[in-house]
Order: sequence, then structure tokens, then C-alpha cells
Amino acid sequence: MTTPQPIQTIAPLRERKAWTALEEHAAKLRGIHLRQLFADDPERATRFTLEALGLYFDYSKNRIDGEAIALLLELAAQSGLRHHIDAMFEGKKINVTEKRSVLHVALRAPKGEKIFSDGVDVVPEVHAVLDKMADCADRIRSGDWKGHTGKRIRNIVSVGIGGSDLGPVMAYEALKYYSQRDMTFRFVSNVDGADFVEATRDLNAEETLFIICSKTFTTLETMTNAHTAREWALKTLGDEKAIARHFIAVSTNAAKVAEFGIDTANMFGFWDWVGGRYSMDSAIGLSTMIAVGPDHFREMLSGFHAMDEHFRATPFESNLPVIMGLLVVWYNAFFDAQTVAVLPYEQYLKRFPAYLQQLTMESNGKHVTLDGVEVDYQTGPIYWGEPGTNGQHSFYQLIHQGTKFIPCDFIGFVHALDPIGNHQDLLMANVFAQAEALAFGKTPEEVRAGGTPEWLVRHKTFEGNRPSNAILADRLTPELLGKLIALYEHSVFTQGVIWQIDSFDQWGVELGKVLAERIIPELALGSEPALKHDTSTNALIERYRRGKGAV
Ligand code: F6P
Repeated sequence: MTTPQPIQTIAPLRERKAWTALEEHAAKLRGIHLRQLFADDPERATRFTLEALGLYFDYSKNRIDGEAIALLLELAAQSGLRHHIDAMFEGKKINVTEKRSVLHVALRAPKGEKIFSDGVDVVPEVHAVLDKMADCADRIRSGDWKGHTGKRIRNIVSVGIGGSDLGPVMAYEALKYYSQRDMTFRFVSNVDGADFVEATRDLNAEETLFIICSKTFTTLETMTNAHTAREWALKTLGDEKAIARHFIAVSTNAAKVAEFGIDTANMFGFWDWVGGRYSMDSAIGLSTMIAVGPDHFREMLSGFHAMDEHFRATPFESNLPVIMGLLVVWYNAFFDAQTVAVLPYEQYLKRFPAYLQQLTMESNGKHVTLDGVEVDYQTGPIYWGEPGTNGQHSFYQLIHQGTKFIPCDFIGFVHALDPIGNHQDLLMANVFAQAEALAFGKTPEEVRAGGTPEWLVRHKTFEGNRPSNAILADRLTPELLGKLIALYEHSVFTQGVIWQIDSFDQWGVELGKVLAERIIPELALGSEPALKHDTSTNALIERYRRGKGAV
């Protein structure tokens, strides 16, 4: 087998000219406060704000100046970013270790556009599946799709994990405002039985449809939950024939779907060029489409597509995902930032940070370059977050006054979807205030001026100089959601290109899966084979067996 090659030979990161210049420039900027940067440049806010596709992206409260951005843009050029973007859109096998094209952009390409993988234009297939999904969603939403006993389907339970769950859950929550309210949507991911039990305890099987989402149709958690779902449904419905009306599969693996007992007529396909964490706008999003309807789903896809086009065609200096990705590289490399906090001031986006965790960390949590060489620099940061204002009353203390350096992304909207009184003004005042406090802080002099006794001054001082981006949009629509997700997808892409890693494989999840398969039979009482792990693992398994036996 031939060793796959990166699509372009790029000098190692530390040997790229812009990198050395950035190192030197960052050393200078580390000594300058944001207060100073703003004082020196009255135009700073406008200079470092981009507005495109209805997104106002203010990155002026970052520890950068014009030269830093110019050098980062040079780094992007020296890293072959343009070439890599083109390669992705051209269907080149940029997922080098899995020898696959990376074409989630094709999932949202309009009819008529041509995108090729292995010489085949994939856009017609994408639209054929979308049309089939729309037909299915319409039949379910209208009550035309009846369950085995003739009752209307009122409950959708989507079963999947990772990329086959996080996108659908996040999108359902994000677009709940647009959803069909006389239906119930539940999501089961964890192999912990509690997840299934709680999701189904109040549901009537006669009115429940399970969508089993798994790219491979082999994932332990999903297959276990799918079998449990089948037993649960059959307990009420009695008849194997009922499966056809109560189970749909979304997968790339038709053979396994048939083996499970789901009629492949009830299967929605997708393709190996769609990574799990990039799959929410493939058939994996069927639950989203049923919830919000095909029109809203298509609006979301057009938002994704608009950001794809922006990423592909906009010069890097005004390209939102490029600038956003470069800022992550900047802090990660030169400010020792280990994390990025994503702070949506929009309750409907409550699952957005959890969704981003897989997107960002499964993509860029890598320790070798595309050539298999150990990196000598930091790669993907830890993404985390919670909606505001809740986070302000838990972890913001550490962001403001702790010893960690945490760049933040604030996300807010001008209009609430559910306007009540002055809630939105209160919410947004907090976004602006938090970003302001982080950047500018409160000096000891200012604290003293408020009459604070000397012994308390240090405690009440905010050093500031803590960076953030602010992303402001009009309101959370399906289209806007698509743009927002694609913004982060392409930011992740940009980062991965600079670091020269494969952002589209996930070998790091394999070992744990293999070891778990080995341990499963060791936990069964009765057989209890001799244990050959390390002493700690042996002792844990033995303790578990003893506890289990005692019960
Ligand atoms: O956690 C690893 C992973 O392979 C993810 O990349 C993927 O999204 C998830 O498992 C689920 O896989 P599948 O859709 O094949 O069940």
C-alpha cells in the first residue's frame, strides 16, 4: 500500500518566515495593554471589525495590531491555505490518513453546482437524498405517516452518538422556536441505560418513530440503544412488521442496516466524504428537518452555503473564518492559551458549545503532522462554554481574575425570538459589559477612587487585557445558524492547515473502543476470565465484579 502524501509540501511551521516574525512581534505585543492599543488608535474598532453575511465580527479587543494581522495573513499564505481550500472544494483527498475527500460543503451546494469526488459529481446525489428526506418529513409532520396501529407519529427519538447526535441535538435546541410544537423530539446517545429510559419513559410506542443515526452502523453505544429501542417498541407493538413503520436508519452502511432489520427503503444514505462531525446537514439531520420542516432546513443549508462561498472566495484579510482561525493560532502559540470559551448570549444556543467541542477537538486534537512527524508546537485548544448570562455566575470569575489566559467568543443577537419586556436589552448589556470588563479591567487607582480600603484594592482590581471576539447578528434564524456553524467549521480548517495536521481523521478514539470490547466479557459474572491488564485495571475490574456479585 502506498503511503498517502499531503496535497502540498509545506515547510515545517517553525521554518516558515512569517512564524519567526510572529514570534518576535508577539513578544512585543505581550507587553502592551489593550487599553494602550485602543488609546493609540481611535480607528481601532472599525479597523478590526468585519461585517459580512449579516454577521458583525468585532475582533478589535484582541491582543493584536495591524502588523500582527499582516503577519498572520502571511503565515496563512506560506501555509498554503488558498491551495488547501481549493483542494477541499475540488474533492481532493485532503483527509490524508483515511484517503478521503472532505466534502461537507457539497451537502449544502445548490442544485446545479458541480462538486466532484473520484470523478463523480456528488451534488445530484445530495439533492436526491434531501428530496427523499423532505418527502419523509412532510409525511410525518402532516400525520400521513401512520404507526403500525394506525396512530399518527407524534414522537421522534433520534439515536446516535458523537457526530450522529451532537449536531441534531444542537440544531433542534437552536431552532426550537421554528419547530412543530405538537411533536416531541428526544435524543438518545449514551450507552448508560438511563439515557434511553428517561427519553422514552412517557412515550407511547404506537406514536413513536426511532431514527437510528450511525455512519458506520457499528458503533457500540448506538447499536446497543437501537436494539433496546427495538425491544421497547416490540413490547407494545408485538409484531416484527411494526419495525418498518417505527424505525428509520441513517447510515453509509446499507448491509448493516439490513442486518439490523430495518428495510433499506427506510434508509437514508450519506457518503464516506462526510465526516461524522460535519454531518448534521446530511440525512443525519433528518430529525432537524422533521422538527422545523424542509423549508427551514433548506434555509439553514443556504446559510451554510453562503459561509462556504465567503470562505472560498473572500480575500483572507476580510474572510471571517480565516481571521477567526488565525487568532486561535496566535493565542495558542504565543500567549500560551490552552482554551477558547464560546459564550452564546442566546438560550436557544445552549448546546452550541457542546457541539463545537467535537467539531474543534476531534478535528484538531492531533500530535503529528500530515507527514507523521511529531509537532513541536501546540495544536487544537480546548473549546468549552455555556450560555450567558448563566456562565457569569459560575466560571467568569476565573476568566476575569484567574491566572489562566482564556480568549472568549461572545455571540449575541439584536432581536430576541421571544421578546418580553426589556429582557433582550438586559441580556445584551451583559455581553457588551463582559467584553469591556475583560479588555479594559479596573485599575487599582480606579478601585481606590471608589473609596475601597487599601487592603481590599488588589482583590477588587481587574487587570484586564483579556481578549475576546464579539459576533453580533440580527436574530437567530435557520439561515444564521448555518452561517455560524460553517464559520467555526472553516475556522477549524484554517487552524488545521497552519498546523499541517489532518483535521478530518479521529484515530484517537480507537484505542478506548478496542480496550472496552476486550473488557466487556470480563465483566460478566460466571465466566470471570483471568485478568491480564495492569494491576490498577485488574483491581478495578475485580472490585466491580465483587460489587456486582454482592448485589
Ligand atoms: O467518537 C468517534 C466517532 O467515530 C465520531 O467521529 C463519530 O461522529 C461517532 O463516533 C459516531 O460514529 P457513527 O456515526 O459511525 O456511529
